[in-house]
Amino acid sequence: MTGGRTARAGLATVVFTVGLSMVLLLAGSTWAAPVSDGMAILKSRCFTCHAIKGPAATTLKSFSARKGPDLFYAGVKYNEEWLIKWLARPEPIRPAGFRYFKNTVVTDGADDAVDWDALKAHVALTEAEAESVAAALMTFRTYEEKIKKNALTEAPADAFMGEMNFDKFSGCLACHEIEPGYGGVTGPEVYTTGERLQPDFVYSYLKDPQSFDPKSFMPNKELGENFLQVLTKYMLSLEAPEPEDEEEGDD
Ligand code: HEC
Ligand code: HEC
Repeated sequence: MTGGRTARAGLATVVFTVGLSMVLLLAGSTWAAPVSDGMAILKSRCFTCHAIKGPAATTLKSFSARKGPDLFYAGVKYNEEWLIKWLARPEPIRPAGFRYFKNTVVTDGADDAVDWDALKAHVALTEAEAESVAAALMTFRTYEEKIKKNALTEAPADAFMGEMNFDKFSGCLACHEIEPGYGGVTGPEVYTTGERLQPDFVYSYLKDPQSFDPKSFMPNKELGENFLQVLTKYMLSLEAPEPEDEEEGDD
C-alpha cells in the first residue's frame, strides 16, 4: 500500500521533471535558435551580395561594386513582418534592379531603356528560414543613433500636398514610382514604403541620405521640417494596388 503510493509519487515526479524540461527546451529553441540559424544563413548564403557588417561604401568604386542593398542596419530600417513575407516570396522593389546603372541598355535615339533580361529573380527562402533570417536581421542596429525617434507629428497625411510635393516641388518622381509603372526607375518603389520600412527610418533617411550611404545617388534636398513631415507621411500612406486577376480569398 505505502510502497505503491511511493512508487506512484516517484513516477509523478519523474513525469513532471521530464515534462518541465521538455517545455523549457522547446521554449528555448523557439526563442534562441532562429537568430543563430538566421545568422548562419546570412553568413553562408547572403554575404556575397549584401554587406552584413558596416561601414557603408565610401568610394564610388566600392559603391558601384555592391551587388545588393546594405543590410547591416536592417534592424532600424525594415518592418520584421515584411521581411519574413518578402524573403519567402521576393518581388522586385527597384524597377531597374539594384545596379540600374549596369542594367540599362542604350536604345537608338531614345532614352536608356531597362534591359529586363539582365534582372534575375532574388533567392527565396522557406517560411522557417525567412523567420530566422528576419529575426537575425532585426538585431543589426548600426545607425540607431542616426534615427530620429517618433519623428512624425500627429497631424494626418495630406494626400494632395504630399503628391504635389513628391511630383513637383521636390522632384522625387523622377527616380521613384508612386504606383507600378508611374515614376522613375532608379530608386526603390515608394508605394510599398509603409509595408517595408519603419517610419522613423524614412524620415531620417530623407533628411540626410548620405549619412546612411555616403555615395547615394539620392540628392539631399535640404528639406525643411514641414516638407519632411508631408513627404514621409505621404509615402507611408501609399498602398500597393491589388493584383487585378487575384481571386478574393475566403480568409
Ligand atoms: C546574387 C546576389 C544576391 C544574393 C546572393 C542575395 N541577395 Fe538579397 N538582394 C539582392 C538584390 C539585387 C536586391 C534588390 C532587389 C530589388 O530591388 O528588387 C536584394 C534585396 C534584398 C532584400 C530587400 C532589401 C531592400 O532594401 O531591397 C533583403 C531583405 C535581402 N535581399 C536579403 C537577402 C538574404 C537574407 C539573402 C541570403 C539568403 C540574400 N538577400 C541573398 C541581391 C542578392
Ligand atoms: C536622382 C534620383 C533620386 C531622387 C531625385 C530621389 N531619390 Fe530617393 N532614392 C534614390 C536612390 C538611388 C535610393 C537608394 C536606394 C537603394 O537602392 O537602396 C533612394 C532611396 C530613397 C528612400 C529609401 C527607400 C528604400 O526603400 O530604401 C526613400 C524613402 C526615398 N528615396 C524617398 C525620396 C523622396 C521623398 C525624394 C524627393 C525629395 C527622393 N527620394 C528623391 C534616388 C532618388
